[in-house]
Amino acid sequence: KGYNYGIVGLGVMGRNLLYNIADNGFSVAGFDLDEEKVKQLHSDATSEMQMKGTGSLEEFVTTLETPRKIILMVPAGRPVDAVLDNISCLLSKGDIVIDAGNSYFKDTDRRISGMASKGLHFMGIGVSGGEKGARTGPSIMPGGDAEAFSLLQPMLEAIAAKVDGEACTAYMGKGSAGNYVKMVHNGIEYAIMQLISEAYDLLKRGANLTNNELYEVFREWNNGEMNSFLIEITRDIFKQKDDLTDHDLLDQILDKAGAKGTGKWTSEQAMEIGVSIPTIDIAVTSRILSAYKDERIQASELYAEKEINTPENKELFIREVGEALYLSTLISYAQGLALLIKASEEYDFGIPLKDVVKIWRGGCIIRSLLLEKFYSAYSENPELTNILLDKDISELVKSKIKSLRKTAAFAVSNGISSLGIQTALGYFDAYTTKSLPVNLIQAQRDYFGAHTYQRIDREGVFHTIWNSTNQ
Ligand code: 6PG
Repeated sequence: KGYNYGIVGLGVMGRNLLYNIADNGFSVAGFDLDEEKVKQLHSDATSEMQMKGTGSLEEFVTTLETPRKIILMVPAGRPVDAVLDNISCLLSKGDIVIDAGNSYFKDTDRRISGMASKGLHFMGIGVSGGEKGARTGPSIMPGGDAEAFSLLQPMLEAIAAKVDGEACTAYMGKGSAGNYVKMVHNGIEYAIMQLISEAYDLLKRGANLTNNELYEVFREWNNGEMNSFLIEITRDIFKQKDDLTDHDLLDQILDKAGAKGTGKWTSEQAMEIGVSIPTIDIAVTSRILSAYKDERIQASELYAEKEINTPENKELFIREVGEALYLSTLISYAQGLALLIKASEEYDFGIPLKDVVKIWRGGCIIRSLLLEKFYSAYSENPELTNILLDKDISELVKSKIKSLRKTAAFAVSNGISSLGIQTALGYFDAYTTKSLPVNLIQAQRDYFGAHTYQRIDREGVFHTIWNSTNQ
């Protein structure tokens, strides 16, 4: 009998996932063209693991039990297609290929049909938690063929992170739903990271906090209701010393943010299917703006440094920034979840929102205590179209909104850019406004383009010949 699972791609993520699967009593074979990686796989393995690595694709495929279950841990994009091109002719009907990278969901749809025409199953699964998560328990978002999924389920549940004894993995829906959910996870990840960076800036430039003080603030935040993975690692970052100089490492890092594309896809998707996710959009575009460092330097000289009026009551300010961060984070989740709801309808994914928030509670990058509250909300009402409409969540929001407004006002009046905080607040204010001023936009559209409008007092579509008052 052959090995239970195969992994293609033995970079750090592939290797760690392989060890995790092997630790849970499954036998696993690994393949990588790079002999060094194969060697390293063997040298870091423990003697209890039933595993083997190889640099030969043929050998790899023949050592697997059938139906084969092969997990791809290769970079998204062309490398996935390259592996499929090479491997599919070696596979047999009914074999399952599982792409565990951050693949674009439309690529997954295309690959599902391509592989199906050869009698093979293809699935896209989202895996979150970074290197450590892959090794010790990630959050896993599988989607696609339900029958193929049921073959993988016991292994996925074994290797996933656990919260209250429950595995952080569940079926996310049909087709490319797994990749879609992971994409939105990453969009939310971008938004929260943006918001945390703004809170850092407000505390640093606004209230002159040192890295040591910031460490204490984040430590306290992480010990309370704001407990989350991203707050936790931010806390640690403030303590890290640089190996090359005697400064704190954070202060030596260039302020140009990278991005691999999942955040951008989330924004593009939201635009495509008509969902408003401005805090995620702003997080994507803020990373883009950060790259224009030379221009920013020029502009900062041209417009000179702004003077900052530090808050009189530092303690109060820190508390308000914390509450603003908490609430704007909540609003970012609300936007991402609203996108998932719409996408589920649009693409007929059948995404179970309750399970999404459940499996995000552990293992993944956006895990947080807040997700417990969302889980309760969706358990009570699985049809909830926006988390802000939940009664308990609304009480929570109301208790923090004043701090969000005060923090946003402080940032604006002191010229500290806080695009994430502002858009979270702006989204909240628009979403909770009964009558928006877009009646005027409709009037303008009809004025110059005869685009018509609807009325508040009668059914139908109307057009007016608007009077010009030009003299
Ligand atoms: C995760 C992360 C992971 C990766 C991001 C980084 O859930 O484990 O989201 O997938 O760190 O893709 O994305 P950027 O390079 O675009 O910031």
